[in-house]
Amino acid sequence: MTGTLSSGHSETTKALELPALLEPVTAEMQLVEQWLQSNLVDDSAFVATLLTQVFQSGGKRIRPGLVLLTSRASAPGFGELSPRHIILAVLTELIHTASLVHDDVIDRAALRRGQETVNRKWSDKLAVLVGDLLFAQASICLARLMNPAIVGIYGQVLGDLCAGEIKQMNQQFACQVDWDGYLRKSVCKTASLFSAGCHSGPILNGCGDEVVAAMKSYGTNLGICFQIVDDLLDVTATSEELGKPAGGDLAQGIITAPALFILERKDEVASSFERLIKERAVCQPEGIAEALQIMKSQGGVEQTVKLARDYAKKSKDELRCLKPSQFRDSLESIVDYLLLRTR
Ligand code: FPP
Ligand code: MG
Repeated sequence: MTGTLSSGHSETTKALELPALLEPVTAEMQLVEQWLQSNLVDDSAFVATLLTQVFQSGGKRIRPGLVLLTSRASAPGFGELSPRHIILAVLTELIHTASLVHDDVIDRAALRRGQETVNRKWSDKLAVLVGDLLFAQASICLARLMNPAIVGIYGQVLGDLCAGEIKQMNQQFACQVDWDGYLRKSVCKTASLFSAGCHSGPILNGCGDEVVAAMKSYGTNLGICFQIVDDLLDVTATSEELGKPAGGDLAQGIITAPALFILERKDEVASSFERLIKERAVCQPEGIAEALQIMKSQGGVEQTVKLARDYAKKSKDELRCLKPSQFRDSLESIVDYLLLRTR
């Protein structure tokens, strides 16, 4: 693929594997995993089966990893974390997972990370309830933090997640180029939770405003970068790599960065691309194949790569306010790791 974000050095690629980047918080990650395995057990075997299905589809646990790394990187003397930091990491993963279970209902998705979704395997009704159950668990965790500021931050995240989905639904198949709207939606859908996770640990640590604000901005920019890369992968990756059909965003009328770069050209290429969307040809296999080809061959991919890199840089710049440590190094490398996902 042209427009790759990789540095091309295979050693770099190896070093940028997520387990290696999360190594400085391995012990804490194990506690998060244990919590997710044991505390979600329910006396109903069927509920337990549903929860196992959700957590077995094996997320990468990037969000709890970020919570733990930002917490340690900003802890006085880089000291050990408290149980409250573990709970913060857990609740961040619970909210993420719950939102995906609900998202699969909205998107009528059959697969998530190559596994059958709850809505497909059982029903929409059950998937809504499983998502709600996870949000309820997250609320209990939030209460246990005993920190009103963090309750407010995560309350905002829940609102943002819903607002992001509503904005997206309301804009389906709309071809006017609205970069501001695209970025605001990306903040709501993705960056808001990243940002909450990255600055709540420093709040628990009693850090000053400067560090808290920098970690908030690190998370926001990283989250936007993550969403842009996700949108790009929908165009460049194969269905096997994605664990779901490629081109799914545009097929559903969701206009993301690679498509916006084509639409804003206002030339013949843009017009035929717009026609494919407006006439719903993108909902059919031939139409989506043609649209994907246009985005790949007319610079949509390369420009999107550049946009993702811009946000990656903004994110890394915020780390300067932290003292050097292995935790800060990992936070920096995670930015590169997320970019590398584009191969
Ligand atoms: C993935 O989007 C979905 C999200 C990032 C958030 C979805 C949020 C909701 C459904 C609202 C949650 C409800 C409450 C009560 C807070 P995507 O479809 O672009 O990504 P995908 O390809 O991974 O499915
Ligand atoms: Mg989806």
